[in-house]
Amino acid sequence: MCGIIGYTGYRNTKTVLLNCLKRLEYRGYDSAGISINNEKSKIETIKAVGEIKILEKKAESFSANGPSGIGHSRWATHGAVTEENAHPHTSCHQEIAIIHNGIIENFKSLQEKLTQKGHIFKSNTDSEILAHLIEEHYEKTTDLKKAVEKTIQEITGSYALVAMTDKEPEKLIAARKDSPLVIGVGDNENFIASDVPAFLPYTKRVIFLEEGDIAEITKTKIQLYQSDGSKKEHEINHVTWNIEDAEKSGFTHYMLKEIYDQPESIQEALRGRISDFDYSISFPDAVEELLSQPFESVSIVACGTSYYAALLGKYLLESLTSLPVSVTYSSEYRFFGKNYAHSLVVAITQSGETLDTLAALKEARKNGASTLAITNIIGSSATRIADAYLLMQSGPEIGVAATKTFTSQIVLMALLSLCLSLRYDKIGADDFHHHVQQLKQIPRNIRKIFDTIDEIKHVAKKLSTAYSAFFIGRGLWYPLAREGALKLKEISYIHAEGFPAGELKHGPFALLTKETPVVAILHKGITYDKMLANIGEIKARGPSVIAIAEDDDEDIEKYADHVLRYPTDGEIECLIPATVILQLLSYYTALYRDCPIDKPRNLAKSVTVE
Ligand code: F6R
Repeated sequence: MCGIIGYTGYRNTKTVLLNCLKRLEYRGYDSAGISINNEKSKIETIKAVGEIKILEKKAESFSANGPSGIGHSRWATHGAVTEENAHPHTSCHQEIAIIHNGIIENFKSLQEKLTQKGHIFKSNTDSEILAHLIEEHYEKTTDLKKAVEKTIQEITGSYALVAMTDKEPEKLIAARKDSPLVIGVGDNENFIASDVPAFLPYTKRVIFLEEGDIAEITKTKIQLYQSDGSKKEHEINHVTWNIEDAEKSGFTHYMLKEIYDQPESIQEALRGRISDFDYSISFPDAVEELLSQPFESVSIVACGTSYYAALLGKYLLESLTSLPVSVTYSSEYRFFGKNYAHSLVVAITQSGETLDTLAALKEARKNGASTLAITNIIGSSATRIADAYLLMQSGPEIGVAATKTFTSQIVLMALLSLCLSLRYDKIGADDFHHHVQQLKQIPRNIRKIFDTIDEIKHVAKKLSTAYSAFFIGRGLWYPLAREGALKLKEISYIHAEGFPAGELKHGPFALLTKETPVVAILHKGITYDKMLANIGEIKARGPSVIAIAEDDDEDIEKYADHVLRYPTDGEIECLIPATVILQLLSYYTALYRDCPIDKPRNLAKSVTVE
């Protein structure tokens, strides 16, 4: 959740740290700060509550430049949002400064011990303990790496930690457990950050730290160590994202850009997975090996939007493979999840860092399940924990509200279902080829949605005055109703709920009035008549109905007040263009309500806390 950046090199350290912090804003934050080892070999620190631009303003009078520095954007989990609680935290004599992401579980007992030894704590955070512990160990070892090593042996919990001292001003020491860290490798400069976009303007060469790694970083040297102190080789990866990928490309918000990215991101999700020659589906070797096992059931774990992709995955897998599939919120699975013999556990997580999903994955592994992660982030913790992983290949998603990664998750669930269906002999060659061919048409059908933007805006304008809204669908369209409601509530702050259409009459009907619009998402499949009947029942109670329906659906006009249309196609292939309508509807509703679309209140992009 918090953003971390460390820098050592030849540039103006203050400028680099502030630039990198701005690039981490999308993670969500409430306060921020920087510490710099200045030219007089003293650590100077500045912090501010609120936006990075407030810190930047404050830092105008802060002249500190020097060989190294660290910066942090905080999303409070322990201690109120105050300057004192913002990072970096410093030791009693200001000789050590640290930034930390994670939770130190035994900080209370450690704090008591250190207080008795005379340490004075300035904040109400668990993180500050690290600065004091390192200070204690540094006095004995006079070696920052050793002091950090000893510190992490004493703490329990999770951490991505970067420390520096004015005694070794060119050096940063980083360590990770259950929280990501990545090194940016430069020429005569190096970076350490919680995620790649932070330093993307400076370098695309990266080293992903693994669990338990400790890194010693100077401007010319990077040395990794294992937790037992032994040296470790590292591999430099080249990330292909360019700066434009991570920027808005002229769109008013990242979210809008990311909605418009979808024809390409869907193509990317399919890229390398469908043979042009015979339309067969193939995955990386590790995934193929995993899928070659004879599974008897599948469990899917995920949170938020990824959970709705999981729900959709259940419908797809069950209908295409006949395997029993359960879907559980990660936060529930980690405590109550059941593993059946010969079961595959699939974790869907855009960030690959959602703490509950990682805990669920670990639990599944512990209980002997085979595990597959579906994620957007190469090198993320999910890719390291699971037996195998499939990448969404969506490029960076900066807007807090998930859009393009959701539709890529659907594509991957469809590919996975089709692939297993063929392996289990549940689909004929013709049907299989038909579906695969149709999947390739999705980008074209999404572009057709963009041609209807004026109608979507018109309906969004009406929706923007609502206080509460319902979304309904059946079968494959029910998870879309849930996702449509989540998208609307998180960015426009309109209360919204998604239901299977048949469920409204079992309670929610009590809330239907002229003021509660209902969005009905439908397709002319087996539940179409039932959907029309449900819409009729709703209309009789006063609400206006916004239907999302196929191009050639004429009957719907008689039932709905507004109809937004997606190109007629097979059911699976229509899900994504219909999702794009829901995303645009939420986006413009939020825009008309003047909401901070890319950074909704109280939300963060990557939820690495419980
Ligand atoms: C909603 C949204 C969140 C995430 C959820 C899981 O738009 O983005 O609900 O889907 O926090 O995140 P990942 O997929 O990174 O595990």
